[in-house]
Amino acid sequence: MPGRLTVSEHPIVQEKLAILRDRRTPPHEFRAAMGAASSLLGYEVLRAVRTRKAVVHTPLQRAKVVVPDQSVTLVAVLRAGLGMLEGMVSLVPSARIGHIGLYRNEETLNPVRYYVRLPPDLKDSFVVVCDPMLATGGSASEAIRIVKTDGARHIALLSLIASRAGVRRVHSVHPDVPIFTAGLDAKLNNKGYILPGLGDAGDRLFAT
Ligand code: PRP
Ligand code: URA
Repeated sequence: MPGRLTVSEHPIVQEKLAILRDRRTPPHEFRAAMGAASSLLGYEVLRAVRTRKAVVHTPLQRAKVVVPDQSVTLVAVLRAGLGMLEGMVSLVPSARIGHIGLYRNEETLNPVRYYVRLPPDLKDSFVVVCDPMLATGGSASEAIRIVKTDGARHIALLSLIASRAGVRRVHSVHPDVPIFTAGLDAKLNNKGYILPGLGDAGDRLFAT
């Protein structure tokens, strides 16, 4: 596969993924597991934030330190991406937050855009597009296209379960965007759901 794909094999990430996949998990535990998995994976995503050297003074001496040198913008793809925000914000309380509303046309599976609201000046920001499910890849590709159109140049995609087809599609349209996920699944069913996946992430998150 071209492009960069990171599938976390960390046992704690995998434990959260098991909770998310389990159909018996109630919405409040599903939400908690999504938040925790997003935070753990987000830690790896944020490794790419640009840094600079600085100097601070400890009570004893001056010390060379390294600090972030770039703002972070989290972009949630509605609805299910909302469930990833809290975990990410716990890592970067100063993060700016954007929202992109997309739903899939049930017949064509193409993403339909219904809402876009992004912070200004994405050009110099590290933009993390948050969408837990990467199925056909249509929604993520469109969300990345939207943030690029607004000027974003340094982008990563944070998902929780990705299909191979979705990864291929995002990498072919946006080879510059690395993808991070907790699970890589082989198949989609004829309605575009990831198999085995976790079902409908938005419905499980919001009990709809
Ligand atoms: C889900 C999910 C992704 C999209 C993935 O959203 O949250 O955005 O499907 O599918 P794709 O890779 O085939 O585009 P959905 O359209 O179900 O909307 P919702 O989050 O509001 O339920
Ligand atoms: N959206 C979901 O919520 N789940 C899938 O498996 C595919 C798209």
